Amino acid sequence: MIKHLLTISDLTKNEIDAIFEKTSFFKERQTRRIPHNPLIGKSIGLIFDKASTRTRVSFEVAMHQLGGHAIFISHRDSQIGRGEPIKDSARVLSRYVDGIVIRTFGHNIVEEFARYSTVPIINGLTDLHHPCQVLTDVFTIIEKKGSYRGLKVAWIGDGNNMANSWIEAASRLGFDLAIACPDGYLPDKDILERAKKEAKSKIEIVKSPKDAAKDADVLNTDVWASMGQEEEIEKRKKAFKGYQINSEILKLAKKDAIVMHCLPAHRGEEITDEVMEGQNSFVFDQAGNRLHVQKVILEKLLNTETRNEIQEF
Ligand code: CP
Ligand code: NVA
Repeated sequence: MIKHLLTISDLTKNEIDAIFEKTSFFKERQTRRIPHNPLIGKSIGLIFDKASTRTRVSFEVAMHQLGGHAIFISHRDSQIGRGEPIKDSARVLSRYVDGIVIRTFGHNIVEEFARYSTVPIINGLTDLHHPCQVLTDVFTIIEKKGSYRGLKVAWIGDGNNMANSWIEAASRLGFDLAIACPDGYLPDKDILERAKKEAKSKIEIVKSPKDAAKDADVLNTDVWASMGQEEEIEKRKKAFKGYQINSEILKLAKKDAIVMHCLPAHRGEEITDEVMEGQNSFVFDQAGNRLHVQKVILEKLLNTETRNEIQEF
């Protein structure tokens, strides 16, 4: 069966832990410039309907380092942008490439791609989920704190795609998650309910950013207006006032708390420049880890023939 990565819930806890273990190993080898080319002769397509710096570049470099090749397909200059049906595009592209990363608006678009594709589909961000980013974030937590076990993660801000993927990660992996969002901007109801039902840890919506930050090991936020919500910016700036990671909020967290942001950040809105540049912030290491985590994801999904060999690492 083809394995797709559309949400964190597509992976079991064991699979996620195995990804983290291999990421440490591959990252260390990459740091020492030891070549690792399991994807020689393989290609991926990168279909992006939204802007990207990290996701696009990290996937392109990841494929290059693994010995394969990436083809960027912008909606502006492919037939997808001119309305060729998804079910046709999926079947055509599956005949050329070995995997497809998609960044788009509706989550139904990646689901439809996956239904018709005969190669793995990787979600590079939809309005509902951002699984590659959150897998990277949890890997970064392991690097900085040794483990995600027993930690309290705070989410302060919009209940957006990132928040939804964090909810699924907390449920799958079993760490506590306290979420503070303004009224009307809560995470997806179905995702939250399902995650809470399956979770062994505490996943809760709390009243204020202060409640979320209290004794937290990780403080996490994201922009107040995501891609596609540009027209709501002014309204959102009012609604999100106070939902900011700043030095007062940081003081409420544990002394050695780490601050995370998937980037790009809007300093002065969801996070202050002081905190972003401060000693608790690891946002650039977090961004850097996209490359290493995604290399493992690509190898896992694309390299079915050598899977047994990989498991021996
Ligand atoms: N964090 C993230 O996905 O960044 P890009 O939008 O630059 O890809
Ligand atoms: N929530 C943001 C994340 C960007 C990486 C957005 O969707 O624009």
